[in-house]
Formats: sequence, C-alpha cells, structure tokens
Amino acid sequence: MHFDAIGRVPGDPILGLMGAYANDPNPRKFDLGVGVYKDSQGLTPIPRSVKLAEQRLVDSQDTKIYIGGHGDAAFGKVINELVLGSDSKLIATQRAGATQTPGGTGALRLSADFIAHCLPGRGVWLSNPTWPIHETIFAAAGVKVSHYPYVGSDNRLDVEAMLATLNQVPEGDVVLLHACCHNPTGFDLGHPDWQRVLDVVRSRKLLPLIDFAYQGFGDGLEQDAWAVRLFAAELPEVLITSSCSKNFGLYRDRTGALIVCTQDTEKLLDVRSQLAHIARNLWSTPPDHGAAVVATILGDPELKSLWADEVETMRLRIAQLRAGLLEALQPYGLAERFAHIGVQRGMFSYTGLSPAQVQELRDHHSVYMVSSGRANVAGIDASRLDLLAEAIARVV
Ligand code: LMR
Repeated sequence: MHFDAIGRVPGDPILGLMGAYANDPNPRKFDLGVGVYKDSQGLTPIPRSVKLAEQRLVDSQDTKIYIGGHGDAAFGKVINELVLGSDSKLIATQRAGATQTPGGTGALRLSADFIAHCLPGRGVWLSNPTWPIHETIFAAAGVKVSHYPYVGSDNRLDVEAMLATLNQVPEGDVVLLHACCHNPTGFDLGHPDWQRVLDVVRSRKLLPLIDFAYQGFGDGLEQDAWAVRLFAAELPEVLITSSCSKNFGLYRDRTGALIVCTQDTEKLLDVRSQLAHIARNLWSTPPDHGAAVVATILGDPELKSLWADEVETMRLRIAQLRAGLLEALQPYGLAERFAHIGVQRGMFSYTGLSPAQVQELRDHHSVYMVSSGRANVAGIDASRLDLLAEAIARVV
C-alpha cells in the first residue's frame, strides 16, 4: 500500500504535556508545561479587553471576505507601533512594515522561507538552548541551523561565550535573538550585553531576526521592546517576529506578525512583495479574527489602557510567583540553589532540574514540566506553593 513505509514520529514534547496533564486524575497535579498564562483560579481567561473588542466586532463586522496577503492594514499599523514605538522614525519614514501571520510561529516560518528563497546559502544561528520549534522550523525550510552558546551546563547565562561564537559567524548569516523572556531559560541579556551583541552583529554584517513572543511579560510593555527598538534604530535591516498569543491571550486565534525594517521604502516594497508571495504558498491569506481584535483594542484609547492594565496584572502575578516559590523553597534550604528563579524573566524558568528529576516529579508528584527542566512559572497555583516546594525538595 502507499503508506506502508510511513512510520510514526514522537508527539510534540511541549504540546504533548497538555494531554498527559489532562489525563492525570490526581487533583493535586501541577501544570508547568506548555507556555500559557494561568490566573489564581488555574484558568487561562480571555482578557476583558478582548471580550469587549470581540463584542464590537460581532456587532459591526459585515463581511468575512479575504483580507490581503499582508493581512489587516489596521492591525499592521498598530502592531508596528506596539513593537517599534509610536514615535518610531522607521514608521514615519516608511521603512518598517508588518505582515500578519498565523501566530508568532507563522512569522517564524515566513522568515525561514524568506531566508531560504531570498537569501539562499545563509545559515541561521540559534541560542543553545532555544525553543525546540526554532530548530525544526528552519530545518523544515531548508535553512542550515547552527548554535551559539547562551546558557551553560551550570545553568548560567554565558554572554562571553555567546559573543565569542557570534564573532566567528560567517558574514551575512542570520542570528536569532530572543527580545525578552527567553524561551526556555528565562535568562535575558542586560542592556550592556545587548549593546555588545549589536556591535558584533554590525561588525560581522549579520542579519538579526528578533523573536518577540512575550512583550509585556518581562519588565513591561515598553521596557521589553528596548532591544528591538535599539536594533531597529541602529541597523539598516532587521526582522522581528511578534506574537499576540500571550499578551492578548489569543493563543488559538493564531495572531502574529513579521515586521521587516529596511534601509529605504523601495527596499521595503521589494521585501514585502516577496513575503506576500511566500505567504500565498503557505497559508494564502492570514486568519482575521485575532488581528481584528488586536486592531480594535490598540486603536481605541480606552480599550488599550484596559488591556495594558491586564498585561501588567499578568506580569506582576508571574513576578510574585517567582518570589513565592523561592520563599517556599527556603525551609528546605533550597532558596540559594534556585536563586536564578528570581533573576529570570517571563513565563519560563530553566530550573536546573535534570530530565530524571523532571520525570520523578511527574511520576510521583504529578508535576508536569518540559524534560529540559523548563517550568512555566505562570502555571503555578499560588495557594499550593508549599506542596510544589516539597515535591521539588524530594527529587533534588
Ligand atoms: C511554549 O514554548 O510552551 C509556547 O511557546 C507554546 C508552544 O507553542 O510551544
């Protein structure tokens, strides 16, 4: 038969955890796997600003006709401003354009195909470690993948090793950087580190591709955009992938953008024509709903301010959970060992737990996290921090 030679591949290591967690009957289970925000009730709610925008759309939308290859122009405008800043010179001089994509993952796939088709022979450099899907997306597009060191086996950010490798990267290659809330480690570069990375990117003539999936979850909506705006202001060409999954809670509505910054408007038009052409072969035109919601929220001062407050609430809760877990680990003499949890930013913590310890946590304590030791801090139930700390103490 035609399909005889087809074998089975393992399920996705992150998404697979959702099913395993759901099937665990233990009422004391912890879901620290897939990167979704949870509130104090353990729910991933739809933000109120999103609900209000959706209601407006239901009442006012009068067609479901296709939106163009670059998506909704209103969305493109507001996402450009959210990422690059409303006072961005690039926007004012028409040197930056957003192409709407199905989620941040879609933006990454579009970037990968753009590199493969329009910049043939260029490799991409990923942090070690990185989000596992970065590896497979670029490989699927036929782009050669290499790595620069980021966090070592001692679970510390190693900026010197990172810079030393970037200094050896062949001219013209693409370097993928995490704007904030590094996935999976939670370790972010400080401003002086970013400045040094910028110097290397400039001197080696590398093309930066900045993945910006967690805007607002690190130090704040504006603060988290600092490195993106620095690179966009200082370099002639930058690619940025933006996601609305987390900060708008639009996970399943697949809302994101690939923002391209170029030296002049003519080049922007060239590149955007290629992106629309590539996107046509990938998903034709992007899904509308999530982007229409984002455009509605960011285009209305009241909704925008409500949304910004909601993002800040999520951010502060994550910060409190980090502090709370460290406090809960104190009685076990583990606060120092896990002090990095307080330094890391965003949803994720590279805990430093080994795959065997992660397995033990899952098998004996129903604590679910990625085998790399990545825990989604935003999934912790604050009322059961003691229980989580006790489970961790039992496996280390
Ligand atoms: C994660 O890393 O858990 C999230 O980005 C969700 C995903 O798609 O993997």
